[in-house]
Amino acid sequence: MEEKIARLKQAAADKIRQHADTLSALNDIRVEFLGKKGEFTTLLRGLKELAQEERPRIGQIVNEARGQIEALLEKKKEELHVRDMEEKLANEKLDVTLPGRHQWRGHLHPLTLTLDRIKAIFMDMGFTVEEGPEIERDYFNFEALNLPKDHPARDMQDSFYITEEILMRTQTSPVQARTMQAHEPNTPIRMIAPGRVYRRDDYDATHSPMFTQVEGLVIDKGVRFSDLKGTLELFLHRIFNDNIGVRFRPSFFPFTEPSAEVDISCVMCHGKGCRVCKGTGWLEILGAGMVHPHVLEMSGYDPKQVTGFAFGLGVERIAMLSYGIDDLRLFYDNDLRFLRQFE
Ligand code: DAH
Repeated sequence: MEEKIARLKQAAADKIRQHADTLSALNDIRVEFLGKKGEFTTLLRGLKELAQEERPRIGQIVNEARGQIEALLEKKKEELHVRDMEEKLANEKLDVTLPGRHQWRGHLHPLTLTLDRIKAIFMDMGFTVEEGPEIERDYFNFEALNLPKDHPARDMQDSFYITEEILMRTQTSPVQARTMQAHEPNTPIRMIAPGRVYRRDDYDATHSPMFTQVEGLVIDKGVRFSDLKGTLELFLHRIFNDNIGVRFRPSFFPFTEPSAEVDISCVMCHGKGCRVCKGTGWLEILGAGMVHPHVLEMSGYDPKQVTGFAFGLGVERIAMLSYGIDDLRLFYDNDLRFLRQFE
C-alpha cells in the first residue's frame, strides 16, 4: 500500500513537471489525481479493506501525499502565472513615440472677436446691446428713418426683397426706430445694435452682399454734437490706439441732421499717404449725426424735449484695419489657413 502511494505521488510530481505547460493542463492533472474520481480518492476508499489498526497510519500517509501534491500544483500554478505575465509584458509593448491623435480645438471667428471688442467698449460706457430682425419691414428699414418710398437715397441700398413690404435689411438703422417704439416716449436710450445686413452688391475684395454693422443710438435731454464727437473719439482711440487721428467731415444721411462721416488717420502709413488710404492719409470708418427730428417724431419721441445722436459702422472694415487683412472675402470663405491665425 505504501509503495503504491509513493508511486502515485511520484507519477503526479512527474506529470506536473513535464506536462503542465498551461493552466488548463495543470487543472486536468489536479482532477486526475485529487478529483472526486481521482486516484487518491479511490485509494482512500480502499482503506476500509485494510486491517482496523493499519487504517490511521495509512490514512495519514495518503493525506500527507495529497498535501504534497497540492503544494506542487500550487507552486506550478504560480510559475505559470508569472510566465504568462512576462509573456504579456514582452509582447504587448506600448510605443510611446507614436504620434498622438490630434483634436482640433475650435475658436472664435475674427469678426466675432472684433464685434466682442466693440461691444465691450460701448458696454463700458453704459450702452445696452439690442437686436433686430434680419428680415425687416420696409417701414422700419426705410420709412421710419425718413426715407419715403421714392427717396433717391434708397438706390444706394438696393436689397433682396421678399415682398414689396418685406426685405433683407440693408442697414442696422431700423433697430433705432424699433428701440424707440419699444420704450415709453422720450425715455432715455443708450444702445448699440450689432448684426448682419444685406445689399445687392458685387462680391470682390471690398464688397459683399452680406456684411456686419453696429448701429448706435443715444437719446436724452440735452444731447449735443459734442457728445457724439467725444463718444466716437473715445471709441476709436480704444479700438485702434490713442495716437490715431480722428476727423469729422460734413455728409448726408436722411435720418440725421447734421450728418458727418468720420475718418481715422491711416493705420498703414500713419497719415503719410499710401495705397490703402489712396494717398489721402485718412480712412473713412463710420457714418454719424444728430437724429433727425422727423425720425424722433415718427417713433413717438418729442424733438422739443429730447435730442439724440446716432452712428453706424462696418465691423469687417474695423477688423480688416486692426488685423491688416486686405481682402474682405477671407472672412466668409471658411479657409482654415486663414481662420487658424486667430486661434
Ligand atoms: N445706416 C448707414 C449705412 O448703412 C450708416 C449710418 C450713418 C448709421 C449715419 C447711422 C448714422 O446711425 O447716423 O450706410
